[in-house]
Amino acid sequence: MSDKPRILVTRRHLAEIEARLQADYDIVLNEDDHTMSAGEIVAAADGVDALFICVTEPLNAATIEALPGCVQAILTLSVGTDHVDLDAARARGLAVLTTPGAVTAATAEIGLLLMLGAARRAHESATYLRAGKWDLWTPTQFVGVEITGKPLGILGMGRIGRTVAQRARGFEMAIHYHNRNRLTPELEGDADYIGDLGDFLAASEFLVLCAPSTPETRGFVNNDTIAQLPDGAIIVNIARGDLVDDDALIAALTSGKLAAAGLDVFNGEPDKVDRRYFDLPNVFMMPHIGSAARNARTGMGMMLLDGFEALRAGKPVSNRVV
Ligand code: DGY
Repeated sequence: MSDKPRILVTRRHLAEIEARLQADYDIVLNEDDHTMSAGEIVAAADGVDALFICVTEPLNAATIEALPGCVQAILTLSVGTDHVDLDAARARGLAVLTTPGAVTAATAEIGLLLMLGAARRAHESATYLRAGKWDLWTPTQFVGVEITGKPLGILGMGRIGRTVAQRARGFEMAIHYHNRNRLTPELEGDADYIGDLGDFLAASEFLVLCAPSTPETRGFVNNDTIAQLPDGAIIVNIARGDLVDDDALIAALTSGKLAAAGLDVFNGEPDKVDRRYFDLPNVFMMPHIGSAARNARTGMGMMLLDGFEALRAGKPVSNRVV
């Protein structure tokens, strides 16, 4: 039996991460990268010191309680923690490590891509071109809106929200935000804090969702909040699917109340995404690729392993949330 720490790795990872895992740990690897059920995870956790999971492995209270006593830590390749019952982990004395910072630039880039793609009708025009339908250039074809100089409302001004703001300044967007708390002047920069939700929404020609999924933010985009947005507003979601009520968003995209949406995350992802989105030409969407950049994904894995090493050495762990 190896004296290296044993880790259950629930998904395949980029080569650099797997090489470090293979070199420094005794790993139980999900070779064929299938989505492991809760029962499989519990069974495979027998004898392991830590679980190395992703957003694809929801660990609810029952699963956490069923984990064998040898498990000391959950390392999740995400900044979001909504798939892990943190209270249950706390109650079991498990450490939970995440990847703050490592995903920031990559996810903010996708926010900008979605804003541009939705505003400039990228899905419709690219699909038209690839379908071989383009035989004439006309002044009225695929006319969208510029993002340049427009008001941008950011819900959730954490690392990712602030980085979206910073990139959007390059497009001269006028930035305002709504957050649990107002930021310090250094973090806020020239962004306006709008504490009143109605005022925040009324000012948001572009609305980008960057807040974590919490009981307060779930269902944030609904009939009521959409009604308070300017007509023709554009919504972008790089946070979590459950911030959005799909019926409300789809109705507003169909009626024209909203001009477009850019979505990277969905309720029911990956296999139960609301199929009505697929038929809406004004939806520019991606399959949850916010952090899918090589350096981000590598940095995320390294951050988790660095944190686990620090944890085992009894040193402070900056990416420990529980
Ligand atoms: C995150 O970091 O939470 C992403 O959604 C998954 O990598």
